[in-house]
Amino acid sequence: MITVALSKGRILKQTLPLLKKIGISLVDDPYNSRKLIFSASRDDIQFVIIRATDVPTFVQFGAADLGVVGKDGLMEHGGEGLCELLDLRISQCRLMTAVPRRSENVPRTRKRLRVASKYVRLAQQYYQSQGMQAEVIKLYGAMELAPLVGLADEIVDLVETGNTLRANDLVEKDLIANISCRLIANAASMRTRHQQIAQLVDQLAEVVGSEQ
Ligand code: PRP
Repeated sequence: MITVALSKGRILKQTLPLLKKIGISLVDDPYNSRKLIFSASRDDIQFVIIRATDVPTFVQFGAADLGVVGKDGLMEHGGEGLCELLDLRISQCRLMTAVPRRSENVPRTRKRLRVASKYVRLAQQYYQSQGMQAEVIKLYGAMELAPLVGLADEIVDLVETGNTLRANDLVEKDLIANISCRLIANAASMRTRHQQIAQLVDQLAEVVGSEQ
C-alpha cells in the first residue's frame, strides 16, 4: 500500500481530475466528508487530505510515501528528506512581493522593511538575497490586509489572477518565483517502493506531458 498526501483547497480541485485521468478516484467524496484517510479505486493506494503546508512534513517523516504540494510549500519547508519527482503543472501562480499602489514607485528607503507573509523562510531569504533587511511577520491568511492597516510595508504572497491584490489596492512588485504543483516522495520510500512509485510517476508524466 502506498499513501499519498494531497493538499486540500484549490490544489485538490485540480489534483483529482489529474488522478482520474490515470484511472484513480477516491471512494468517498472529499468535499462532503470529514474523513482524513481516503480509500481509492485501486486498493494498493490510499490518500490523506491535509493542509498544503503539512504535506512536505508528512512525506519527510514517511507518514506518506508521496505528496502533491505547491513549489511554494516545498521551498518554505526546505526539502529535507524529500525527492521532487515531477512538475504536475497545475495550480500555476507566482510568488510575489506586493505593495500598496500609493507606494508603487517609492524606493524602499526604510532600513528594516516590515513584511507580512506566511512564507517566513522564503521571504527572509529573498530580501537577504537583495541586500535588504526585513523583519518578517508571520500571518496565516489575509496577508493583503497587513499593509492597509499599518502592520507591514509589503507582503510576500501567491498571486494567481491578481484579483485579491486589485480588490485591496495593492500592486505586484518583485517576482520571487513561478509556482506550480509538484509530486514529491519520501527518500526512503523511493528505495523500498520504487516500482510502484515509478509506475505512478510514468503515468502522471504522460498525462501532464500531453496537457502541455
Ligand atoms: C491565495 C493567496 C492570495 C490569493 C491570490 O489565498 O494567498 O490571497 O489566493 O489569488 P488571486 O491572485 O487569484 O486573487 P487563498 O484564497 O488560497 O487563501 P489563503 O489566504 O487561505 O491561502
